[in-house]
Amino acid sequence: MRTPTSTLGALFVMTAVLAGTLSGSTAAAPPPAGQSAAADRIARGEYLVRIMSCHDCHTPHKPAPGGGIEPDMTRALSGHPQDMKMPPLPTLPEGPWIGVLGATMTSWGGPWGVSFTANLTPDKETGLGTWTEEMFIATIKSGRHQGKGRPILPPMTGVLNAVRSLTDDDLRAVFAYLQSITPVRNKVPEPIDPAEEER
Ligand code: HEC
Repeated sequence: MRTPTSTLGALFVMTAVLAGTLSGSTAAAPPPAGQSAAADRIARGEYLVRIMSCHDCHTPHKPAPGGGIEPDMTRALSGHPQDMKMPPLPTLPEGPWIGVLGATMTSWGGPWGVSFTANLTPDKETGLGTWTEEMFIATIKSGRHQGKGRPILPPMTGVLNAVRSLTDDDLRAVFAYLQSITPVRNKVPEPIDPAEEER
């Protein structure tokens, strides 16, 4: 027996078909499952990178119209600009100030010396282009360069404490997004340790 609900259902389908015919649209084929899952993962990664403020430090900032600074998205996530040589760290006055910050927000000086934000774009020579997902996740979890090298310096250490709480799925999404953006060739300088800075 035909129930009122299924009649309504049938009507709905008919209306939908009719609407499709009238608007002249042919149903667009959905993207293959694999492709849409990959796109979803990249979109999730883009969202996480945006809300976790990765651009604050990894995208060089430039003067903003009307004052202040803003991220230069033509160099998104490319790290400290290679052509921007920083002068020696200034000596801070006595008191609770602990560090200094370069104008592009990509160089950070303090008791750890000077650290320069990394190029997170997929450039093969100067960015994360040759990194695997495993290397990225190991870096975040261990706090060491590529999961086994030197310890990562402040202020990234504090960021790692937060990012480490992401699920592996979310970390994979962040990595997938970083690998999908425009590669920027920019060789970030090595960090300067405090002893070197005092010479
Ligand atoms: C407060 C500033 C700051 C924020 C915010 C920040 N970073 Fe960093 N990041 C740095 C600095 C500085 C370094 C370089 C540290 C060093 O040389 O040891 C770095 C290094 C890294 C590295 C290490 C690369 C390598 O070669 O080992 C990765 C990966 C990274 N950041 C990813 C991210 C991601 C993803 C986000 C957003 C969730 C983020 N960072 C947010 C400052 C920041």
